[in-house]
Amino acid sequence: MLEFRVLLVLTAFLFAPKPSLARAPYALRISCGARDDVYTSPTNTHWYKDFAYTGGIPANGTVPSYISPPLKTLRHFPLSEGTENCYNIKKVPRGHYLVRIFFGLLAEPSFDNEPLFDVSIEGTLVYSLPSGWSNRDDERAYVEGLIFLKDGTSTLCFHSTGHGDPAILSIEILQIDNRAYYFGGGYGQGTILRTDRRLNCGAEKPKYGADYSADRWGGDRFWNSLPTFGENSDKILSTTKSIKQSSQPPNFYPEALYQNALISTDTQLDLMYTMEVEPTRNYSIWLHFAEIDPSVTEAGQRVFDVLINGDLAFRDVDIVSMSGGINSALVLNKTYAVSGRSLTITLHPTKGNHTLICAIELLELVLAESKTLPAEIEALQKLKGALGLPLRLGWNGDPCVPEQHPWSGVDCQYNRSISKHVIDGLILDNQGLRGFLPNDISHLRHLQSINLSGNSISGGISSSLGSIPRLEILDLSFNSFNGSIPESLGQLTSLRILDLNGNSLSGKVPAALGGRLLHGASFNFTDNSGLCGIPGLATCGPHLSVGAKIGIGLASLVALVLIATCLTCWWKRRQNILRAQRIASRAAPYAKARTHFNRDVQMARHQSQEHAKTAAENGPSLLA
Ligand SMILES: *[C@@H]1O[C@H](CO)[C@@H](O)[C@H](O)[C@H]1NC(C)=O
Ligand SMILES: *[C@@H]1O[C@H](CO)[C@@H](O)[C@H](O)[C@H]1NC(C)=O
Ligand SMILES: *[C@@H]1O[C@H](CO)[C@@H](O)[C@H](O)[C@H]1NC(C)=O
Ligand SMILES: *[C@@H]1O[C@H](CO)[C@@H](O)[C@H](O)[C@H]1NC(C)=O
Ligand SMILES: *[C@@H]1O[C@H](CO)[C@@H](O)[C@H](O)[C@H]1NC(C)=O
Ligand SMILES: *[C@@H]1O[C@H](CO)[C@@H](O)[C@H](O)[C@H]1NC(C)=O
Ligand SMILES: *[C@@H]1O[C@H](CO)[C@@H](O)[C@H](O)[C@H]1NC(C)=O
Ligand SMILES: *[C@@H]1O[C@H](CO)[C@@H](O)[C@H](O)[C@H]1NC(C)=O
Repeated sequence: MLEFRVLLVLTAFLFAPKPSLARAPYALRISCGARDDVYTSPTNTHWYKDFAYTGGIPANGTVPSYISPPLKTLRHFPLSEGTENCYNIKKVPRGHYLVRIFFGLLAEPSFDNEPLFDVSIEGTLVYSLPSGWSNRDDERAYVEGLIFLKDGTSTLCFHSTGHGDPAILSIEILQIDNRAYYFGGGYGQGTILRTDRRLNCGAEKPKYGADYSADRWGGDRFWNSLPTFGENSDKILSTTKSIKQSSQPPNFYPEALYQNALISTDTQLDLMYTMEVEPTRNYSIWLHFAEIDPSVTEAGQRVFDVLINGDLAFRDVDIVSMSGGINSALVLNKTYAVSGRSLTITLHPTKGNHTLICAIELLELVLAESKTLPAEIEALQKLKGALGLPLRLGWNGDPCVPEQHPWSGVDCQYNRSISKHVIDGLILDNQGLRGFLPNDISHLRHLQSINLSGNSISGGISSSLGSIPRLEILDLSFNSFNGSIPESLGQLTSLRILDLNGNSLSGKVPAALGGRLLHGASFNFTDNSGLCGIPGLATCGPHLSVGAKIGIGLASLVALVLIATCLTCWWKRRQNILRAQRIASRAAPYAKARTHFNRDVQMARHQSQEHAKTAAENGPSLLA
């Protein structure tokens, strides 16, 4: 049995702000729950008001973390409205984007619970809020994914997991370079990079890209500060000199990122930093260096190895020679599969005594889910309209993904040959559905079972159902279907269970269905207004086609005309006879006389013959 899940939709048609410069990246920021546009300091960032959305409740929020944008409102989604909530943002140009969602807490004393829920971007589950996120002053208060958008929309969904109402503070969709964070094989549409953390080593406080006056193609990244690796093993190094090779495509790292660093001290020559990670995931690790130590003046003076969890990742890194000089940025990236819960980066000097590092980025590689076949999504949308699906069922975004949160009432299957999810079951029994069953249901080509039992669906049974090749179970019982069972259902060679009981169907059950019963299928046609034609049901009257009916009608008409004509003739003839008789009886003396006369004559002749005989015996006759 499919677990019933209630959905709620949140749909909007937001229009992209027109870029003023040809090179300016697309940028959309929404302040959730806001009734007016908001501008936040210190960079006067423009947040669009949250209009044209339906569902959820705008409310005042508290900002749990200093890293959140200073927004005062949020939108939250009470469980009573369903467990699946999406923002569908339309008209987003095709491209590569940084999508970021901040979470908030409801500013109401009665709601002091920290909500825990799942977040998906474009159908891929990217984040499950960890408990304690609202108490931590770090990246746990938002989720960010780097993703390619190609169909003009961006769908962001929040999935309740039964731990409080999802509450969303803001949504940002910021275009970045098409090759941003290119890490080699596997890069592209099949992968979403979820930002786990960005750390600016030696920085005193966290900053956004905007605070660093970074290039807008950098996606206004948030850089948390890492003032020390701990254990008194390092010290902060900083410079005001300009940094070459910063703000370069594809990543446009801000110059300020390289103007401070952590450098190892004499007590501990290795620099070592351990981060907590999710086990058995793949991470893309980005390390940033610049030789800002004035005591190093040329290549060969500082050379070190980089190890990730003890595995050699980069051998003999020489910042000066690799970046092309002092005060010049060097970026190294490595993809690494972690098995445990920690990830340790070690910089081990091989030449010279100290090592240094400017920034660390950790991004999780998330395989993008394969979406549902578009034709089937479209068919489900038509069905949603035709059946008047209640709001609580939602049905928005992708029906099958994330796999952990499919649409309620929809069973999915991954089809390897087309690399898409397809719908193989539609289980919407007892959902208070009304309306009718549209022909579009047959576009769900991969359906194997349909259960719409116990609703109030009316109208005829769509004959297109007969063209769903592998339909095995069709339960339309206890609805208000009328008309006859379409002949096409006889083409469903895989049909095992057909429940049409409890409707207002009439007419003959297709003979092909009757035949199927012999092969162990289970059909139920009881409680209808008048079905006939198979054992157990009434026998049907002669079944005639329309043509035959017209034929019979015409023949009957001709017969009627013929009978009428005959009757008229007979009647007329009879009238003539009667009239003749009447005339005869009036002027009859003559006719009658004649008759009599003839008879008389005959009699006479007879008599005369006898007479003659007599005469011959007795003498000559008197008559001539
Ligand atoms: C939000 O707070 C403002 C005052 O800051 C208040 O006027 C408004 O009614 C509050 N809105 C809600 C939904 O509580
Ligand atoms: C990341 O590393 C890969 C493989 O080492 C390299 O091909 C790619 O160019 C690097 N990416 C960037 C943006 O430097
Ligand atoms: C990590 O990457 C390897 C090699 O690309 C792949 O086989 C594996 O499935 C990935 N693991 C996860 C959890 O994505
Ligand atoms: C390493 O450190 C020692 C002592 O601090 C110093 O004498 C030596 O010159 C350093 N070596 C290099 C290559 O900087
Ligand atoms: C996958 O889809 C194709 C095309 O619709 C279909 O022919 C095939 O039978 C499907 N395979 C499975 C296992 O459902
Ligand atoms: C369809 O749903 C009804 C109501 O839940 C259930 O009784 C019936 O067994 C289902 N039909 C099939 C064929 O499973
Ligand atoms: C079926 O019912 C609808 C109203 O629900 C009516 O318009 C239609 O004529 C009926 N069809 C038949 C074949 O009785
Ligand atoms: C058919 O459905 C009726 C209810 O409409 C039920 O009483 C009957 O038991 C069913 N027959 C079979 C064979 O399942």
